[in-house]
Amino acid sequence: MGATASDATSTQTSSSILEQGRTHDCGSLRAADAGRDVVLFGWVHRRRDLGGRIFIDLRDRAGLTQVVFGPDIDKGAHELGDSLRSEFCIGVAGTVISRAENINPNMDTGEIEVEVKRLEIFSSAATPPFSIADDDRLDTSENIRLKYRYLDLRRPSLQRNFMMRSKLATLTRLHMSGEGFLELETPFMVKYTPGGARNFLVPSRLNPGDFYALAESPQIFKQLFMVSGFDKYFQITRCFRDEDLRNDRQPEFTQIDVELSFATPERVFAPIEGLMQRLWKEVLDVELELPLPRMTWAEAMGRYGSDKPDIRFGLEFHDIKDLGADCGFRVFAQAEYVKGICVPAERAKSLTRSQLDKLTAFVKKRESGGAKGLAWARIQPDGSWKAPFAKLMKPESMQAIGARMGAQPGAVLLFIADDFETTHTALCSLRLLLRDQLGLLDEGSPQWKFLWVTDFPLFEKNEKGNWQSSHHPFTSPKPEHVQYLESDPGKVLANAYDLVLNGNEIGGGSIRIHSSEVQAKVFKALGLSPEEIEAKFSFLLDAFRYGPPPHGGIALGLDRVAMLAAGAKSLRDVIAFPKTQRGHDLMTRCPGPADEAQMAELFIRHRPLPGQDDD
Ligand code: AMO
Ligand code: AMP
Repeated sequence: MGATASDATSTQTSSSILEQGRTHDCGSLRAADAGRDVVLFGWVHRRRDLGGRIFIDLRDRAGLTQVVFGPDIDKGAHELGDSLRSEFCIGVAGTVISRAENINPNMDTGEIEVEVKRLEIFSSAATPPFSIADDDRLDTSENIRLKYRYLDLRRPSLQRNFMMRSKLATLTRLHMSGEGFLELETPFMVKYTPGGARNFLVPSRLNPGDFYALAESPQIFKQLFMVSGFDKYFQITRCFRDEDLRNDRQPEFTQIDVELSFATPERVFAPIEGLMQRLWKEVLDVELELPLPRMTWAEAMGRYGSDKPDIRFGLEFHDIKDLGADCGFRVFAQAEYVKGICVPAERAKSLTRSQLDKLTAFVKKRESGGAKGLAWARIQPDGSWKAPFAKLMKPESMQAIGARMGAQPGAVLLFIADDFETTHTALCSLRLLLRDQLGLLDEGSPQWKFLWVTDFPLFEKNEKGNWQSSHHPFTSPKPEHVQYLESDPGKVLANAYDLVLNGNEIGGGSIRIHSSEVQAKVFKALGLSPEEIEAKFSFLLDAFRYGPPPHGGIALGLDRVAMLAAGAKSLRDVIAFPKTQRGHDLMTRCPGPADEAQMAELFIRHRPLPGQDDD
């Protein structure tokens, strides 16, 4: 057991250092402070013994300060200092000394050190399972780090992420309230409504056999706030979704949720753009130019094959369906869609034959889009094509396709011919793979490419071939498209938009339907029966009978914003206590079984998995 504050050891008997309180954090002392008497609190980050002196890097969330113990400085402190080990929690009192001849340029406080006259050990530490001082060089598995998350969070890189996240949240509150938005709360335990993300369920002890759902978002409640006349609402709130997890998805995540009355898309974009500009300026010192660029969904799909395109680099798609129709190559002539990208000569050098075979295998994988193949062609010095299918193609078709794609000698053309979904998904996966493989991003200077993607289709076909809402059923169709709701639902575009940053969806929203007539048509197109509508949405439709204002809004994924701003690769680096891909919290070992008595109280019985004994 480590010493506690009450049995803390001090080299002097006067009032304890703890009582005295710290004068500075570990990141702030500079040359100008030389000669000052200071008190610092923190953890032993690193220890070195040199020439009879003990050097400790003392760490708190603000940074590191070198503190020195020596028999010539204070004998007692030096003796006690000898017992210090990594991660002991201590307080020191001493004098700031300039390191004029010996400045450490790698430390913010490298101009000084503190000669320790008093030491108080608040608590000792067991040997940590990994070295916090290794931080970015740490090669411990993520599972070990997550098991000891409280230690993992001590690492300076993660401390920086969470200080940044805190700043993002604070600035968001300042900005949104400054824009006249009220911060209001909505329930987490809500009515279960099928459709949308899969919900977590909470059994109700007071209502045997009934369940609450954990809110996947405050969507319905924020719309009801508009009916209630709150006019402009925002909330930084947790959402819960029982989804398959990925690096950019967690089962609990945080939204900056926004709704406003009398909304148009412009009136939603303006405060959000202002917020982004402020966050980027005050957190990253980056100037964002407003308005942020916009692109329709159709254009984004057409040029990048994605509704969240990464526009930091080129390799845009070229549609060559018309030129392929009569080119002689069966694969191009017969497909519904034929699209290609042109890798310019200076980048295409590394695309050897074996590389191209690997790319072909890549696009065929189901998770990359499941294409039937990849047609590649290398442009020869005389403009002709070197390609497995070159003999099959008319020279004038190769000429025309090459010209459309701006292909110069040395360039490599990559084509996929298939249905809409496969062509776009596979070519998009390929484009992103080439971004990484060919190093198309300038890693040295991060680019911040924000993009509004607008005019999403209102409906999409589900696996059974039925229409379902692309977003949620209260999303408003574009007024001029209401006429197609019955005759041609696939043609109807929505007043819906996403905010994209560097190829990541960081937000999404829409103008909502507030007319019961339009809502009825949308429900009908979705194939909902009056009974289903009544069961799922009656309270909302009831509310809309009492003068609902036109309204709309958006939700930003705060975790994703923080992840990108921090340059992190995973949401787990910006969520303090995240879940693993399997949904586990490795530190508290959750989820775990509930005991029989607890379950009985909730009227729940465990049904054994197939093959398990029921006893
Ligand atoms: P949507 O479902 O698009 O919209 O969510 C909004 C934003 O939340 C983030 N996000 C997530 N972040 C981490 N883990 C997840 N599992 C996760 N799921 C979503 C994304 C996304 O853009 N009620 C609507 C908003 C509206 O219409 O106003 C909604 O929830 O960044
Ligand atoms: P095949 O006629 O199937 O031998 O294919 C000839 C070339 O076209 C090969 O290089 C295949 O990888 C490629 N290919 C086949 N199907 C497709 C497709 N749907 N889209 C793009 N290329 C394809």
